[in-house]
Amino acid sequence: MDQTTEIAEAAASQTPRKVFVKTYGCQMNVYDSQRMSDALSESGYQPTDTIDDADLVLINTCHIREKAAEKVYSQLGKLQKMKRLRAAKGRDLMVGVAGCVAQAEGNEIIRRAPVVDLVIGPTTYHRLPEAVKRARNGEKIVETEYAVEDKFEHLPATNREKTRSRGVTAFLTVQEGCDKFCTFCVVPYTRGSEVSRPLAQIVDEARRLADAGVREITLLGQNVNAWHGHGTDGTAWGLGELLYHLAEIDGIERLRYTTSHPRDMDDRLIEAHRDLPKLMPYLHLPVQSGSDRILKAMNRRHTAADYIALIERIRAARPDIALSGDFITGFPGETDRDFEDTMELVRAVNYAQAYSFKYSSRPGTPGAELPDHVSEEVKADRLERLQALLMQQQTDFQKSRLHMTFDVLVEKPGRFQAQFVGRSPWLLPVVIETKSHDNLKIGDIIKVRITNVGTNSLHAETV
Ligand code: SAH
Ligand code: SF4
Ligand code: F3S
Repeated sequence: MDQTTEIAEAAASQTPRKVFVKTYGCQMNVYDSQRMSDALSESGYQPTDTIDDADLVLINTCHIREKAAEKVYSQLGKLQKMKRLRAAKGRDLMVGVAGCVAQAEGNEIIRRAPVVDLVIGPTTYHRLPEAVKRARNGEKIVETEYAVEDKFEHLPATNREKTRSRGVTAFLTVQEGCDKFCTFCVVPYTRGSEVSRPLAQIVDEARRLADAGVREITLLGQNVNAWHGHGTDGTAWGLGELLYHLAEIDGIERLRYTTSHPRDMDDRLIEAHRDLPKLMPYLHLPVQSGSDRILKAMNRRHTAADYIALIERIRAARPDIALSGDFITGFPGETDRDFEDTMELVRAVNYAQAYSFKYSSRPGTPGAELPDHVSEEVKADRLERLQALLMQQQTDFQKSRLHMTFDVLVEKPGRFQAQFVGRSPWLLPVVIETKSHDNLKIGDIIKVRITNVGTNSLHAETV
């Protein structure tokens, strides 16, 4: 070894290892990716946004639809090439797969994509640093047994500086897993059964977030309104009571939660929407279909009329609430008539925003075994019609904000000088034009007037 390589190697051994985390799927994966990145940074891996700099690439995956799951394998194909190129230069690359595909497919991932060194499921992220260490010694790791210990007890708390760098809004997972078993859905299998984090853990994390400058917290759960815990008064609490409690934390000015199930919208939670100014007037409440026949086949255990009655109660409690939903077109057995019922429900509710998908048959779910699967063509055609209606409603909602005055949370600088981007109570981004004397700071909550309306954002001036 000549002197220059020796020096280069010594330098290399001193540069910290780096991890690149790529996140697919829902907000819970976003939250988990941050926690994994924090845990790894304690064991010597600095996060990087540049994949070429990374010694470890961790993909946090989603299994919800076939397309989402297949994306993982095309990504792994690219990493295989990258690893080969690196090997030629004598540099290593470690590849890890986390998330719902990891949980669902386990060993199969390494069989299909030998580039993978490490597979880790969502209940065992606290074991990630140890698993990475073992993988570095050449072991292939598959960590997908449901952990009996609570991962949140063992994951390091995010430090103040890191939280601060992530901005003034934050996610906080309060609940994981699902016991609802909708017949189309993989989540009960990939995330396991419903578990609620204890109250004290949640309050502690919320206080830390507030202390680091976070003003708005979104409570997360695959079924967030199934959250239950022991209250400070010794009684059993649900999500409503939790929100009342969190609203008392100084510094936290805004609260949201997602995703909720219609069956778990209890009276206390609806009262929270009536009573708590900090609870933002926005609710994502998926219904999936407007046909009672299809809702039954989906095992949603509510009818279209139940859902509409529920929406009426929520609107009575909080008249300015904006509603969002999820829809599936072409569930097995769905007829034109069933689909028209969905369109009818959408018209009746009038959504401010929504997500809609073609049904994707998922192996292992009861839906996959049903007769009368709908052709791709029909699914796509229905989706197009549904999305046109939803888009119309979304545009109408945006337009109805014109000339309104309301509070926004200033989130980040805008694209141009003297511009900021804020978040409206209804989650819509607001581009704020400031005046020289405004002196806005990130994290301020200020009054603005809407001057212009686009499809996906609002424009405003300060008042
Ligand atoms: N826990 C949430 C959402 C889970 S997944 C709830 O209960 O509503 C997010 C959305 O993906 C679902 O609401 C559903 O609309 C969609 N989805 C889930 N499985 C699907 C599948 N097999 N095909 C198409 N869309 C699906
Ligand atoms: Fe899936 Fe239904 Fe559970 Fe939502 S409630 S995660 S759609 S099984
Ligand atoms: Fe996807 Fe898992 Fe979330 S399947 S939607 S990442 S819970």
